[in-house]
Amino acid sequence: MQINFITENEEDTIKLGRSLTKLLKPGDLILLYGDLGCGKTTFVKGVAEGLLVDPEVYVTSPTFSLINVYEGKYTIYHVDLYRLEHIELEELGLHEFLNEGIVIIEWADRLNESLKEDFLEIYFKYLDLTKRKITFIGYGEWQELLRELDKDELST
Ligand SMILES: Nc1ncnc2c1ncn2[C@@H]1O[C@H](COP(=O)(O)OP(=O)(O)OP(=O)(O)O)[C@@H](O)[C@H]1O
Ligand SMILES: [Mg+2]
Repeated sequence: MQINFITENEEDTIKLGRSLTKLLKPGDLILLYGDLGCGKTTFVKGVAEGLLVDPEVYVTSPTFSLINVYEGKYTIYHVDLYRLEHIELEELGLHEFLNEGIVIIEWADRLNESLKEDFLEIYFKYLDLTKRKITFIGYGEWQELLRELDKDELST
């Protein structure tokens, strides 16, 4: 199952992240794809909001730290693989988090292995200064789960 959304501004992308959270549960894996500045971290902000992470907590690309951890309704492991060439994937220990909380990975195209059978891919495409195309593709249980999001008002 695949669904497309168009967001007209940053707030729409945050809202879309927030609306995904109604489907999330510990153990979920979300892979984010798309160029620099196309809205991946903005989307994660919405997910953090939806999972009631303290609004004072700063959601930012973990480009140097590789992993940011946010505590909310569930623990969010926010990963950025942009600089992965400097570190072996195993050293990150992703497998340890996979069943504990929600794992969201920016620059997931840097992954060289499949981490799970059930996961959600989200592709971000820059359309213009404020417009983004955001495509969700579900695998395993996410094929069905995504039907719920199809009713979202931002769905095209
Ligand atoms: N519709 C939109 N959705 C998301 N962000 C938008 C939108 N319109 C404009 N923006 C702006 O685009 C930028 C997106 O930055 P963001 O950090 O989310 O990108 P990113 O994909 O995480 O980049 P990086 O790969 O560098 O981590 C922000 O400055 C945001 O304000
Ligand atoms: Mg980012």
